[in-house]
Amino acid sequence: MSEPILQVINLKKYFALERSIADRLLGRSRAYVKAVDDVSFDVNENEIFGIVGESGCGKSTLGRVIIGLLKPTSGRILYKSKIFNRTVDIASLKEKDLRLLRRELQIIFQDPYSALNPKMKIGDFIGHPLEIHKIATGEEKREIVMKIMEKVGLIPPEEYYDRYPRELSGGQRQRVVIARALILNPRLIVADEPTSNLDVSIQARIIALLLRLKDEMKLTYVFITHSIALAHNICDRIAVMYLGRIVELGGAPSIVDEPLHPYTRLLMRSVIDPDTRNIPRVREVSEPPSPVGDFRGCRFVRRCPEKMEKCEREEPPLVEVSTGHYVRCWQHVKR
Ligand SMILES: Nc1ncnc2c1ncn2[C@@H]1O[C@H](COP(=O)(O)OP(=O)(O)OP(=O)(O)O)[C@@H](O)[C@H]1O
Ligand SMILES: [Mg+2]
Repeated sequence: MSEPILQVINLKKYFALERSIADRLLGRSRAYVKAVDDVSFDVNENEIFGIVGESGCGKSTLGRVIIGLLKPTSGRILYKSKIFNRTVDIASLKEKDLRLLRRELQIIFQDPYSALNPKMKIGDFIGHPLEIHKIATGEEKREIVMKIMEKVGLIPPEEYYDRYPRELSGGQRQRVVIARALILNPRLIVADEPTSNLDVSIQARIIALLLRLKDEMKLTYVFITHSIALAHNICDRIAVMYLGRIVELGGAPSIVDEPLHPYTRLLMRSVIDPDTRNIPRVREVSEPPSPVGDFRGCRFVRRCPEKMEKCEREEPPLVEVSTGHYVRCWQHVKR
């Protein structure tokens, strides 16, 4: 297996909530949303590392923190940088260095329309980072942009270059967003639900494009999705998140074929069976509790069909059950 390109160590991102007047008068202390709470994992060069979990579990926050778009509350993000020719800690880099690192680290967001600038022609939008980083302007920029447009399937590029986002379909817009993310020749891309706003038929094409680009440009992906089925299809390894914590981590086949955490099993059951058309029961897909405040015991305890008395009192550690397969559940902690 190749070396890690990224090592995330004890990463936390807490958001302070505004205190109401009543809170202040009563001297209540400030509450925090623990969006990412002590998360550690490695990402190997050229792999697709999946982050899976329900809405609000902290996936996007984690994605933004690891590429330096958000400052973490604590923890380290060690990245093997080519530009700096050494390993840097993204958590403690200065703004100026983070901007330079943007050439290696990029993000693709879920909603292509809000990621685009409606007043900018798409060719100029895709090429903008070349100007920001003083790499190319004018004709030279146009040539680089045309090449990348061809790569992402905006063909013929001269036909698309001067169009505005409103003149494109959803799938084409997402291709524009991908082209912009690739224009600086990055190494690591966080793809944050890159297909969840697209029609099913277009989703498959965008996924195929991302996989082809990964091989052609030797990319590493951190792939964020709420769909464990999609993660299983494309990821090498999967981390399952629940309320800011990783509850299971391992190779994609072992996570799906032998899910160890009751929450991973719940996610598996919530995939609609195409043969029986069984839709999961309402209780099983109920909303997860809020990540605000302090927790005692296992975070999944209120929804867990297999809970034991200990689970209410104490949170289990993340333990390695077989090589590379980790789970945070008392059922798997050897006494
Ligand atoms: N800037 C912010 N200020 C306060 N709370 C925030 C902020 N950003 C995110 N949160 C909270 O942090 C938690 C995690 O949010 P996040 O967007 O990372 O979840 P997610 O897993 O990406 O969800 P989704 O699947 O809906 O995109 C949520 O409770 C969210 O409300
Ligand atoms: Mg999100």
